[in-house]
Amino acid sequence: MLQSVLITGASSGIGEECAVFLAHKGFRVFAAARRIDKLKELTAVGSGRITPLQMDVTDQASIEAALKTIADERIRLYGLINNAGVSAMGPVEKLPLDEWRRLFETNLFGLVAVTKAVLPQMRAAGRGRIINVGSLTGRIASPFQGAYAATKHAVEGMSDSLRRELVPYGVKVSVIRPGAINTPFGQHEVEMLANYENDDPYGDQVRTFKAWFSRQHPTAPSPVVVAEAVHHALTAENPHSRYTAPFKMSYALALRNLLPSGVTDRVLERVNGLAKYRK
Ligand SMILES: NC(=O)c1ccc[n+]([C@@H]2O[C@H](COP(=O)([O-])OP(=O)(O)OC[C@H]3O[C@@H](n4cnc5c(N)ncnc54)[C@H](OP(=O)(O)O)[C@@H]3O)[C@@H](O)[C@H]2O)c1
Repeated sequence: MLQSVLITGASSGIGEECAVFLAHKGFRVFAAARRIDKLKELTAVGSGRITPLQMDVTDQASIEAALKTIADERIRLYGLINNAGVSAMGPVEKLPLDEWRRLFETNLFGLVAVTKAVLPQMRAAGRGRIINVGSLTGRIASPFQGAYAATKHAVEGMSDSLRRELVPYGVKVSVIRPGAINTPFGQHEVEMLANYENDDPYGDQVRTFKAWFSRQHPTAPSPVVVAEAVHHALTAENPHSRYTAPFKMSYALALRNLLPSGVTDRVLERVNGLAKYRK
């Protein structure tokens, strides 16, 4: 029998790539997101193994309805890929609290809600994989990404607890840390930065940062590098607790772990152009 996985945020970018990639690898894929029309387009490219499911991870009733659809087919999920995510950009001082809440509702509380709903069936089966899509920003936080970085740091911490709690039940937990990936996500972030271009006093810094940041995603790797990491986390007997995608970004993380924060700050400033504002 095919192994079944649920992917959240599958209507675009990384989630969409994972859905198609895993379907071609022989998984039965439940592809979930809010935009059902976008998901329906996947049925044509998924070798008949992709089922679209409408799900808003911030809405408990919607999560339960989607899981009922799966249960009605007498399918027990082997894998959950918590990928749905949103971003907001802006100085910590200026980004409205409602934006912070919106991010936490999706990137952390939504992820936890879907995980809680799926876990009983995995524990009962004594096997399963939970794969949380974090971010390199869950370890290295650029300026003007405070809210997003906070949610992704939270995903890292929660995933460590979850992985250790689930050892006795045969359910394995991995975090994927994508670096910049070429999806619509980066363009949304650039547009949000534009809201602060004329801010007093951050405007000048924001414009400099945006000039650098807007060059990152269009030339970044394809989401397939993330799909490959997800596939490994699903199929390896002993999956890694963390995957960095693309792998070469692991070197940035290793440096971050080795260097004192003050040195890391200066390296980042040299890269993103903000060094000229240092006093
Ligand atoms: N692209 C990057 O450079 C990058 C880097 C590091 C980490 N990541 C992470 O990778 C994940 C996917 O990002 P992406 O680049 O593929 O972005 P994307 O193309 O913007 O896709 C985001 C997906 O999340 C879904 N989503 C958002 N809010 C949702 C909600 N409340 N309920 C259900 N689905 C929701 C969207 O679908 P609907 O709007 O249809 O609901 C969409 O399918 C995110 O967690 C992101 O933080 C991305």
